[in-house]
Amino acid sequence: MASNIEISPPQDKHGEQNLDKKTGPIALEVSNLSVVRSGKVIIHDINLKMKSGEFVGIVGPNGSGKSTLVLSILGFLKPQTGEIQIYGNAPLSKTLNGRIGWVSQAASNLPKEVTITVEELVMLGTVNSSNMLFWPNSDRKKRVKEAIEKVGLKEHSTTDVSKLSGGQRQRAVIAKALASNAEFIFLDEPLVGVDRKTRNSLLKLLDDLCHNENKTILMISHDLTAMRQTAHRIIYLEEEIKYDGPSSEFPNFAELAAIRGIQQVHDVNIGIKESDGVI
Ligand SMILES: Nc1ncnc2c1ncn2[C@@H]1O[C@H](COP(=O)(O)OP(=O)(O)OP(=O)(O)O)[C@@H](O)[C@H]1O
Ligand SMILES: [Mg+2]
Repeated sequence: MASNIEISPPQDKHGEQNLDKKTGPIALEVSNLSVVRSGKVIIHDINLKMKSGEFVGIVGPNGSGKSTLVLSILGFLKPQTGEIQIYGNAPLSKTLNGRIGWVSQAASNLPKEVTITVEELVMLGTVNSSNMLFWPNSDRKKRVKEAIEKVGLKEHSTTDVSKLSGGQRQRAVIAKALASNAEFIFLDEPLVGVDRKTRNSLLKLLDDLCHNENKTILMISHDLTAMRQTAHRIIYLEEEIKYDGPSSEFPNFAELAAIRGIQQVHDVNIGIKESDGVI
């Protein structure tokens, strides 16, 4: 029975034991974070540390607070309790300007009536408070070109975003985050609606960004299999952090059921394979 399975405790106070020793200084520190939305506790007493160069995946069922956690880290939601520091600064600090990239959930669902080319969309990623009144200089143009190339949309630079496929649009919004030159990139379900080939190339791209450019990545996804293959560390969130550890040791289905308090209702395994891997 699933309930007999021993699960190692998620972490010490700040997930210290789960930090990859090879990576750099602390990029993110979340302490005792609780967030309430419309009077309901959505996340409760979260402690989390990430080092520069780490690739951390967040999984959890719908409504478990994944986007809420990221929105709070970015400073868009005010916590009820707790503290958040990114590179030692409070969220939205001026010193973080240009250092954070964010691909929001459904970012690629741009309104149909918006007419904007891939190049123009990605250029928006280079805008910050000090350059917004100026025409793009050669550095910004170069970053846009490089970001578009990285996501494989070179042939579509001047294509209207509304004419792209879902996967191509997703790549365009990721290019926008890359063009910002951000050191820390947050991605909220970037793999939704992308075909297998695109998904693999995006995962390869994120992996390269971590290993070759020392970017720090926090990615939310329901695609557990993809996450297991790429993230250094996976966090399972369901109001609280219920697992935080190396991807290779992420609990199997039976262990997850125990973590979530789900009882087995069938006598036999009904045929869900580990490889199906979607939470
Ligand atoms: N604007 C809002 N006002 C009040 N409650 C909200 C708001 N947005 C989300 N919630 C609630 O907060 C809870 C967590 O939502 P959140 O979007 O963080 O979940 P999630 O884990 O990202 O889910 P999904 O996998 O579906 O994206 C849900 O119960 C949701 O109904
Ligand atoms: Mg979400």
